[in-house]
Amino acid sequence: MDFVIAVDGPAASGKGTVAGRLAELYALPYLDTGLLYRAVGVAAERAGGGESAAIAAARALKAEALEDPDLRTRSAGELASQIAAIPEVRAALFSFQQRFAATVGGAVLDGRDIGTVIAPLAPAKLFVTASAEIRAERRWKQLSGQGEAVELAEVLADIRRRDERDSGRASAPLIQAADAVLLDTSDLGISQAVDAARRIVEAARSRWETSRSG
Ligand code: C5P
Repeated sequence: MDFVIAVDGPAASGKGTVAGRLAELYALPYLDTGLLYRAVGVAAERAGGGESAAIAAARALKAEALEDPDLRTRSAGELASQIAAIPEVRAALFSFQQRFAATVGGAVLDGRDIGTVIAPLAPAKLFVTASAEIRAERRWKQLSGQGEAVELAEVLADIRRRDERDSGRASAPLIQAADAVLLDTSDLGISQAVDAARRIVEAARSRWETSRSG
């Protein structure tokens, strides 16, 4: 496998920001896999909702659907986490993600199951987290900035519900891969978190280069 960087973690942990910056730094293509689940959740809802609508939406998903700005809303996140528990939905999205991870030269993917299921052989794995309160505050700022009127307490309740659902589901639950490095961003600003992530990835890159030359 080429130099794949797998970034997993719970909602609003900073993993998207970290993954995006790493992709820039290493000039690698980047896939935010949460967008796939958000797009399926939104498409299924528009088709009337329910498990079979979600499975059909996952099988019919096109890359263009990922550009929809509505995918960044609070309700899209909630819909995504509901349909993400359906094994057939995950199966339908699997090969697209695996193909992306197999890009020649490497890639950066972020999500919940990248290091465990999608790219278990990724040479660099991070598990980015932060306390639920800090994550809620970040997500609340982001949603308010997008013009979504919502109380901080509601966002915290969303985050806790989503953590529980993502970690508790039977199919590819949110869990730190045994070989992933934990990065807690609770007390870090963006540039500190990116610096810490870069150090972790640099160490992984040296090990990966050594193993390839040996
Ligand atoms: O990362 P984001 O908050 O956009 O993800 C939305 C939801 O999609 C998550 O709460 C999770 O349920 C689901 N997801 C997943 N596996 C991934 C990425 C996202 O189950 N690799």
